[in-house]
Amino acid sequence: MTWMVTGGAGYIGAHVVRAMRAGGLRVVVYDDLSTGNAGSVPDGVPLVTGSVLDRRALDAAIRDHAVAGVVHVAGKKQVGESVERPLHYYRENVTGLETLLESMVAAGVGRLVFSSSAAVYGMPDVDLVTEETPCAPMSPYGETKLIGEWLIHATARAHGLRCASLRYFNVAGAASPELADDGVSNLVPMVFERLETGGSPRIFGDDYATPDGTCIRDYVHVEDIASAHLAAAHRLEGAEPGTDLVLNIGRGEGSSVREMVDRILAVTGRGGVAPEVTARRAGDPARVVAGAQRIRAELGWSARYGIDEMIESAWQGWRLRHP
Ligand code: WQD
Repeated sequence: MTWMVTGGAGYIGAHVVRAMRAGGLRVVVYDDLSTGNAGSVPDGVPLVTGSVLDRRALDAAIRDHAVAGVVHVAGKKQVGESVERPLHYYRENVTGLETLLESMVAAGVGRLVFSSSAAVYGMPDVDLVTEETPCAPMSPYGETKLIGEWLIHATARAHGLRCASLRYFNVAGAASPELADDGVSNLVPMVFERLETGGSPRIFGDDYATPDGTCIRDYVHVEDIASAHLAAAHRLEGAEPGTDLVLNIGRGEGSSVREMVDRILAVTGRGGVAPEVTARRAGDPARVVAGAQRIRAELGWSARYGIDEMIESAWQGWRLRHP
């Protein structure tokens, strides 16, 4: 069976494509190249250039490549941008998913792995965030991911699809320098950028109720994210119609901003640079760490990489793009 990976030319999608191929699955990439890079699609993998909003293009891709399953990674993912441009986010992430689901149901495509996010939880006030933790998204981005899960649940029940929604926690790292994230909207690349421009890394607040006062997150290597998608695809191949798994992807361990900044300074050889503490960033929860028991039970998956591999591999990617 052939799996179509939407967004497969992007940072996370390109890693998912490689993991699925390494796992013996046949793949086709569907990407509008708005942020993705055609060069990230491996030789031998067909690339169909199109938007998930284009029903005719989706129908053609599914037909032409005999698609039997979809991994839906395409979408907009910047929390701050979603606050400024909610309609763009709702259109791309919600209407896009709705169009994809309509195309899948019409063609009888029965399996879907969906890229969801820890952003659906908002500001959970718990030590470990499990899939039972109430969802209260605080950004249009997080709202679109939660609505996406609802759309998928209703469609799986009504049409007998087999689905898995994977809630990514904080993604970092790269399988190779060429595949590193070229966005600068998350902690690790934001610190790299500050170091490159001769500035000091900024810590957004150190007065949180945490051991060192800085926010704690669950960082997970993008290769672990990708292997979770392969495990989910295999699980769905034998699943009952109407299956709808919702799974956190995290390591189950927290790292504080100060710990991450210190590790980045060590890895980049900037041990002498002193980070500066600035005001809190609005909307940042003090602690968001995954409870990862369910994914281990359902998929037999657990993360293999640690913080140093994430930072080291991200740094090699940064240096490739910023010689
Ligand atoms: C992490 C921590 C900042 C930059 C992200 C994505 C979201 C979702 C979940 C996928 C925060 C602090 C940052 C800096 C800092 N992922 N920080 N100085 O906000 O946890 O959410 O992961 O769907 O898409 O937004 O990630 O990397 O923005 O911030 O102190 O220069 O680092 O305050 O505590 P976040 P982030």
